[in-house]
Amino acid sequence: MTSREVLAEELTKARDRTLRLVDFDDAEVRRQYDPLMSPLVWDLAHIGQQEELWLLRGGNPDRPGLLSRQVDQLYDAFVHSRTARVDLPLLPPADARAYCATVRGKVLDALDALPEGHPDAFTFGMVVSHENQHDETMLQALNLRSGAPLLDRGAALPAGRAGLAGTSVEVPAGTFVLGVDPVAEPFSLDNERPAHVADVPAFRIGRVPVTNGEWRAFIDDGGYDQPRWWSEAGWAHRQQAGLTAPLFWNGDGTRTRFGHVEDIPADEPVQHVDFFEAEAYAAWAGARLPTEIEWEKACAWDPAAGVRRRFPWGGAEPTSERANLGGSALRPAPVGAYPGGASAYGAEQMLGDVWEWTTSTLRPWPGFTPMVYEQYSAPFFDGVASGDYRVLRGGSWAVAAGILRPSFRNWDHPIRRQIFSGVRLAWDV
Ligand code: AVJ
Ligand code: FE
Repeated sequence: MTSREVLAEELTKARDRTLRLVDFDDAEVRRQYDPLMSPLVWDLAHIGQQEELWLLRGGNPDRPGLLSRQVDQLYDAFVHSRTARVDLPLLPPADARAYCATVRGKVLDALDALPEGHPDAFTFGMVVSHENQHDETMLQALNLRSGAPLLDRGAALPAGRAGLAGTSVEVPAGTFVLGVDPVAEPFSLDNERPAHVADVPAFRIGRVPVTNGEWRAFIDDGGYDQPRWWSEAGWAHRQQAGLTAPLFWNGDGTRTRFGHVEDIPADEPVQHVDFFEAEAYAAWAGARLPTEIEWEKACAWDPAAGVRRRFPWGGAEPTSERANLGGSALRPAPVGAYPGGASAYGAEQMLGDVWEWTTSTLRPWPGFTPMVYEQYSAPFFDGVASGDYRVLRGGSWAVAAGILRPSFRNWDHPIRRQIFSGVRLAWDV
């Protein structure tokens, strides 16, 4: 397949997914499920608005598009906070769907007319990534929704393997190549570039993410009640927010997931913990969180060959035998479910299942150059006024396989836990 055909297919897959996530009646789609999230209808029209801006208006907001200037501006994420979006005069759901469809028709025509190998192909890939990232955001919103479930319990997953929780693998000291170049990864985003050499002291890293069963032991041991495991900021937040367990865990030992109340599987990676909780758990376990650089080395470096692998397991595309991605499971897979997905060092489930908190703030790699969407990364870099962020790595079960790489960087505030976030431990050696 040509890269144009791949892009057309990825655009279509993303749109099918988006439309399934808003395939509810109007009142539902306009509702705000939680002050942390936008109503689904905002994400829907924002997906179309960004696609039009980057692919049909050359990224220039002064260039007229299909919407009036006032309506166009409703979908500027920097102008309206998530909390405030429900009160805006948003496009009604039918209009939002029609707008997205019109934009998409023009975009596919533009893609058709694009010469093979043209540099603008990158921007199409960026738009694919953007739509899929919002699909994950919409899943976070749907998970926060109260009331009878709208989604089923999700697709079947492979069984786990016993004996892996709490085990680790060693990553010996040495240099590796951090980040990627456009030649190897043409659709990598600006913050993943450029590839450069980094030196990392030896460390150990969890073979698999921390499980619900392990987290339960932390709770039972009074982990949430002992400030000694927590950072000062973490303890202050734990006190102020009254945290006693991961988000969506109920007092009776069940959890609520997309409206379904169910037992908590002990061998599933823990989800819906914030950075401070992850840090406290790690301290209690005699460990620490990895840096994002350690994480990337454990995921992508092949020490025998002295090269990066495209994926932890090698060059083959992600499949349902290698990783839990794409969103259909609606939950992480039990630890040990993907022996075929192990990295060169033996770490499993590095891609998919849960986003893994790291200690790193978001910083540009040396030689960082912003992409056409200049505000994608830079406003969130450490030291920029907009706030406090920590990097998460590896992607969750909700991430589309086509947009994920070992170099992919996500970030959020250290107190956020409606995201599909979990923990992988690390240790000094
Ligand atoms: C990279 C997931 C932090 O959702 O804020 C979507 C992605 N940027 N639209 C976010 C994004 C602009 C971003 N994260
Ligand atoms: Fe966006």
